[in-house]
Amino acid sequence: MIKLRFILLNTLLLISFDGFCQKAQIIESNRLMELGSYYYPEQWPESEWERDIKKMSELGFEFTHFGEFAWSTLEPKEGKFCFDWLDKAIELATKYNLKVILCTPSPTPPVWLTQKHPELLIVNEDGRRVQHGARQHASWNSDIYRHYVERIVTIMAKRYANNPQIWGWQIDNEPSHYRSRDYSENARLAFQKWLKNKYNSIEKLNETWGTAFWSQTYNKFEQIGLPNQKELVQRANPHAMLDFKRFSADQAADFVFWQQKLLRKYIPDNIWITTNLMSEYSEVDPLRFKSLDIVTYTKYPAGGSTLGHGEQGFRMGYSNSIGFANDWFRNVNGVTGVMELQPGQVNWGLVNPQTMPGAVRMWIYHAFAGDNKFVCNYRFRQPLSGSEQYHYGIIQPDGVSVSMPGNEYVQVSQELKELRKYYNPSDTMPAYYSARKTAILYSPDNRWEMEYQPQSTQWNYINLLTNYYEILQSFTVPVDVIDESHDFSQYHVLIAPAYQLLDKKLIQRWENYVSNGGHLVLTTRTGQKDREAHLWNEKLSAPIYPLIGARNLIFDMLPESRYGEVRSGNKIYKWNNWADIVDVSDSVEVWAVYNNQYYKGQAGVTHKKIGKGSVTYIGVDSDTGELEKDMLRKVYNQASIEISDLPEGIVIQWCHGFWIAMNYSSMSYDIDIPESSTIILGQRNLKPAEVFIWR
Ligand code: GAL
Repeated sequence: MIKLRFILLNTLLLISFDGFCQKAQIIESNRLMELGSYYYPEQWPESEWERDIKKMSELGFEFTHFGEFAWSTLEPKEGKFCFDWLDKAIELATKYNLKVILCTPSPTPPVWLTQKHPELLIVNEDGRRVQHGARQHASWNSDIYRHYVERIVTIMAKRYANNPQIWGWQIDNEPSHYRSRDYSENARLAFQKWLKNKYNSIEKLNETWGTAFWSQTYNKFEQIGLPNQKELVQRANPHAMLDFKRFSADQAADFVFWQQKLLRKYIPDNIWITTNLMSEYSEVDPLRFKSLDIVTYTKYPAGGSTLGHGEQGFRMGYSNSIGFANDWFRNVNGVTGVMELQPGQVNWGLVNPQTMPGAVRMWIYHAFAGDNKFVCNYRFRQPLSGSEQYHYGIIQPDGVSVSMPGNEYVQVSQELKELRKYYNPSDTMPAYYSARKTAILYSPDNRWEMEYQPQSTQWNYINLLTNYYEILQSFTVPVDVIDESHDFSQYHVLIAPAYQLLDKKLIQRWENYVSNGGHLVLTTRTGQKDREAHLWNEKLSAPIYPLIGARNLIFDMLPESRYGEVRSGNKIYKWNNWADIVDVSDSVEVWAVYNNQYYKGQAGVTHKKIGKGSVTYIGVDSDTGELEKDMLRKVYNQASIEISDLPEGIVIQWCHGFWIAMNYSSMSYDIDIPESSTIILGQRNLKPAEVFIWR
């Protein structure tokens, strides 16, 4: 993607051409990165608002975030609207110089509405209509719900469209139904419509879904239900399941776009509109939100069940967590921000440890290193009542004392002032760093298809991607997580992990990329199926054989307690998750062979030169990732791309002229920097959860 950046007054207008579409997004960025915090006026006595908002400003925050769960306060009774309190909160934000991100309150329809129209509630997998009493309980497919959402969103848009304090708008909150899918009648009818639209004829659907298997043949679309594993005696039809997941993700996106259009009728074009998504949930697909001005993400790196790196890693989370989200969401449409970042201890984990002193500050800098335009902390005050009582805030339960992580925000806001002095928007990436540019190719269809047919309890698509990402991080390689709409040619290395669903057009694109000098890395489970998840009417994965130099391929996996061996040179690696055993053709180098099992001696990793580039096939998914790391290192070496070798948990990234080093490990580490560097903050000897910045 070629990006042209123009600085216009205080505004960065970013225009990107990706060969398929042209977009323009507008977000103020002269402040490098800004910090904000969530505040809920409706949850606190009015007498405390001014004290809190003033304090937020004094602590160094530059914006606040209002309203995403406030429907019952904005419309306490049907048609009785009450916006005075929000006017007052916005006035206070204005008084204390805080910009406002204003949210539409659609995730929390009030009880008067859900009791009057229980049919707008979603039905969960168990066939139960959900109760009122939490959030995200309404069906995006209910016309009644949409009617009420339209009314309140329109009133808000009209009222605040031209309020100069509003910096941007957030639609809904994490539109996802929190790991439920909607099995309501509304959803069923919408699914049938979606299928009709996709297939046109029932014959085409029958053919694509392979319904002759187990006598599933349909005579008309109206007979089709929502595939629900809990209501089926045996495995659901995988093609129906894939379509259902595509449909559900489409519905979430459609609901957000629909609100975007409602807002845009009144909101000027230079005010951005976003939503905030959780990358962990496969129910939503960030790529489907491309038409928003900015797609933001929410992140809670140390929620308890995450072990991280080393003894104390559970207090910091994995080093790839924020990095992967940065490099993924930024590439949805060229710009991103962190809409929620963990403020310390949380309440919803399996266990909820304290965060390591410094960890919250390190996470903020990790967002900075990934070119986020802002970081908003969830939330300013720890709640005294309600469902998140033990969830930290910047401010402790007494309403005035700053928590330990709160002080880390204060520290960063001071430090940002210093960084801004050095900020020069025309700083470009050092040539040796940009020569390493690597892309990871992501596809929601692959995620969904393998989520339903993992073939092994150890299989996890996103983990596979983030494992590769972590290896690249240890090489200090700048990464973009991209999709097929991007131009591959700007990347020296392109990794397409487990690209199971593809077509011959994509294979042709890969081949062109490689012929022109690109280095393509394919892995286990690539090219087994067409876009509708049918195996090819050929040998397994046959369409990629010319690329990887194979004549045949089978795969294997072992019980969790058994390990296989694979050998590269004199080094032996263990594996048990997944192994592709490649019967190679003559024209290929074999980089690793299996060292035991009945296929001992056969290839596990192959490398083939094509045109000016190469294709490396890494057919093993190992637990430690060591084999994958060694093979990738060899790819860069052979391509004469110089890389580094950082230990686990150490991250170094370049952004806007700054080098940022972070330590997610449990041990100290000395960072090497050129003598000519200027140290901006921190020190070379980097202790756990510390940050070091130089230019
Ligand atoms: C987020 C959610 C917030 C809050 C937070 C708690 O996923 O959007 O509203 O619940 O989790 O950690």
